[in-house]
Amino acid sequence: MYNYDKDFINVSQKMFFSEEERQELYPIIDEILNHERWEDMRIYKHHLETRAVHSLEVCCIAWRKAVRNPKCDASSVAIGALLHDFFFYDWQKEKSDLDQHDIKLKVYSPKLHGFVHPLIAYDNASKFFPHLMNKTIKDIIIKHMWPLTVNPPRYKESWLVTFADKSCSLNVLKSPRELPLYIGIKISNRN
Ligand SMILES: [Fe+2]
Ligand SMILES: [Fe+2]
Repeated sequence: MYNYDKDFINVSQKMFFSEEERQELYPIIDEILNHERWEDMRIYKHHLETRAVHSLEVCCIAWRKAVRNPKCDASSVAIGALLHDFFFYDWQKEKSDLDQHDIKLKVYSPKLHGFVHPLIAYDNASKFFPHLMNKTIKDIIIKHMWPLTVNPPRYKESWLVTFADKSCSLNVLKSPRELPLYIGIKISNRN
């Protein structure tokens, strides 16, 4: 029996996961949930919830769809979804920490949060969990903000995560006026 992460219990209950589903998904992601850097994900706000809860919601939605498709790599979906927003700054109040990463942007690429945080998330994911990375997970994380990425997701696993992320994010944006904030065009004045 697993000693489940408390956010995982709450999110999986909200989505009416069965115990069998919990026992199938949890071993794939428990290393991430028990990592010390995951504690930061519980601190940062992400829309109306914490980034940890948001990432778990995307993970549970996308993984559940993936396991129902035998041709889908459900483990990569779970890991990629959980790490798709694995960055450590408050995007609602601060600029990104892009300058702390060795990331080469294309000349025309904007340095706004909406465009750069997938690259930052992948840089962090491959730094802390190099043994979990593969080409599918890389594509999931880097393309999750499509269509901002221009290049579309390459794999069906990546499409599952980008749509799961949008359904979660758009549900909690309080108004269309928050969209520029989400992309990174402006910084919130709220404390
Ligand atoms: Fe994101
Ligand atoms: Fe997200």
